[in-house]
Amino acid sequence: LPSHYTLPSGDKIPSVALGVWRARPNEVGKAVKAALKAGYRHIDGAWVYRNEAEVGQALRESGVPREDVWITSKLWNTFHAPEDIEPALDDSLAKLGTDYLDMYLIHWPLAKKDGKPYDKDLTHNPYPTWQKLEEMVEKGKVRNIGVSNFNIRRLENLTSNPLKIRPAVNQVEISYWIPQPELLQWAKENDMLLEAYSPLGSEGRVRDTLKVREVQEIAKELGMTPAQVVISWLVQRGLVVLPKSVTPARIVENFQVSALPQELFDKLEKAATSHKPYPRLNPSRGWGIDFDIFD
Ligand code: A2P
Repeated sequence: LPSHYTLPSGDKIPSVALGVWRARPNEVGKAVKAALKAGYRHIDGAWVYRNEAEVGQALRESGVPREDVWITSKLWNTFHAPEDIEPALDDSLAKLGTDYLDMYLIHWPLAKKDGKPYDKDLTHNPYPTWQKLEEMVEKGKVRNIGVSNFNIRRLENLTSNPLKIRPAVNQVEISYWIPQPELLQWAKENDMLLEAYSPLGSEGRVRDTLKVREVQEIAKELGMTPAQVVISWLVQRGLVVLPKSVTPARIVENFQVSALPQELFDKLEKAATSHKPYPRLNPSRGWGIDFDIFD
């Protein structure tokens, strides 16, 4: 399986990353160190996870050179206005203790506005936000830019603007429960990489994922663990995969991926894509917006 993918910028992004969403204080730093020790060279974080300072400290203490680690962060919804972007990025850089990011993503296709649920224009067409991100690349603060939680319609909206740099990646929920074959097809046709968050099904559903009959059968046949089967299948589909764990043994386990024989890959692909999609995350209601963020 590929250990890296090459982006349009020429940069090589590692195919398996440690996800640190929901990794708590006093746990996340240890998890980052365990991951680097296990061979991970990609940490997927965000400003809103409130753990960037601890991640940064662990990166420095690990002794692994900065340039050997791929660091992704994300622009939170409240900072989409062009004048708010550079300060938000600077805050992430200061917390992480670095002067550049390998990847910076628009976290959600939603621009929050003071006193209102959202800014309609900027949410509908985030081109001004994107132009500012392009400027951050020109300034050298960020090497690559992309988006997260965008569906095909929103990707088409954004990329119909005269972009200087196209989004390199789109990070979305992808697992056995929501394998997103249409989005994957679109991404491949448009030279964009997809990144899979909650690849094991996300907290509370991981047990179910690891018990899926096909996953169990393949694990048994290949002498892999069920988690390794799922993560391997996702990398084999051409995705960057972001399993979250703060447990050292699982961190090691999740990094050991290997190609499934074609017929077993097909078996799992078929099982995953022949049931109705069951997304885990949809914050539209919680955010009080009058539309579905995935419509
Ligand atoms: P923990 O962090 O306590 O180790 P996802 O990446 O789909 O969001 O899943 C994250 C959840 O899955 C976390 O609760 C994490 O627990 C758990 N997890 C991560 N890796 C494994 C694994 N290899 N086996 C079982 N559970 C795992």
